Amino acid sequence: MSALPEDLHTLGDYERHAATRLPSAIWGHIQEGSGFHGAPDNDRLALDRIKLLPRRLTDLRGGSTAIELFGQHHATPILLAPVAYQRLAHPEGELASVRAATAMGLSMVLSTLSSVTLEEVAQAAQDAARQLAQPEVPHWFQLYAQPDRDHTLALIRRAEEAGYRAIAFTVDAAVKRAGFPLPPGVEAANLRGFPTQQQVTNHGAILFGTPLTENAPRWEDVAWLRKQTSLPLLIKGLAAPEDARMAAQMGADAVVISHHGGRVLPGMPSALELIAPIRKAVGPDLPLLVDGGLRSGTDIAKALALGAQAVLIGRPQMHALAVGGFTGVAHMLHILRAELELAMAQLGCASVSQLGPQHLFRAP
Ligand code: FNR
Repeated sequence: MSALPEDLHTLGDYERHAATRLPSAIWGHIQEGSGFHGAPDNDRLALDRIKLLPRRLTDLRGGSTAIELFGQHHATPILLAPVAYQRLAHPEGELASVRAATAMGLSMVLSTLSSVTLEEVAQAAQDAARQLAQPEVPHWFQLYAQPDRDHTLALIRRAEEAGYRAIAFTVDAAVKRAGFPLPPGVEAANLRGFPTQQQVTNHGAILFGTPLTENAPRWEDVAWLRKQTSLPLLIKGLAAPEDARMAAQMGADAVVISHHGGRVLPGMPSALELIAPIRKAVGPDLPLLVDGGLRSGTDIAKALALGAQAVLIGRPQMHALAVGGFTGVAHMLHILRAELELAMAQLGCASVSQLGPQHLFRAP
């Protein structure tokens, strides 16, 4: 902790410090899609509109933030969202993040576009758990479909082999605007040996007919993927209730409601606003995870009260990496957990499952 600046009390503090430490091109890349307040504007507006209604005199004894997902234990309903190329923010990149997540007992969803191989990240997680003498944490692998299914399958098999405990298939980012030239030393380590592929389209360029749209994943890929692995399968990047229902029908174990941090299509609703209609479409049982703009314990409490089972945190891990590497990410996660515990206690909830619409205030 001594290496960290003293005035780090919130995720906003991490963002402020990170802005002064990262080269402007990298900072611009990380923040792309976020608005004035460091989160996509729609998310901040939606979050601020929601008011919490505390319940008093409830029994908080034995309280816990722990949840179970797919039979896996999570110390909190908070996961590290897949964020590509973490060596942009710190030389240890994903190794620092996974050690921090493991130390805090919480899962990282490792990006296909990790700047460290998935095997090295899994090993770092196992070593960290052993050194800390704590149980192993279920980390997950985020999958981007490759143009050649054999390559996609190879990634799945490697993830299974390395001990990842779920696959989050991201379906909203196959078609993206201009990319960011990676500096020397930062690469898509998991894709070494794969043919190079067009990853983004330039602003204003013709898109249809290019490999981006020709290779963009389709529903048949979800059906195929479901048959390839017995790991829990999450579909990340859904927004339309009908798509969520379709994913469930095709055997997905959960949906991540997400607009990719505002990076793929301007003008989408906040992920929070989509929880209720998606819940209505998929019924009570399918786990719903959500991300986009969540920056505090009360933000997370709002997402859970709206009906999400867990949340993912994206950019703040890059901010925390830039400020303090492993220590920064662990501290950032500690802040979130402590804030969530305070919010839950204030709302009168001893467990995450007690959070619900009764904790949301709607003006009469
Ligand atoms: C992302 N995100 C992302 N998602 C994914 O499925 N695979 C990926 O490789 C990446 N890479 C990535 C890089 C950067 C720099 C950012 C900011 C985001 C999206 C990410 O998982 C998540 O959906 C959003 O970041 C959540 O919003 P917040 O918490 O950043 O506001």
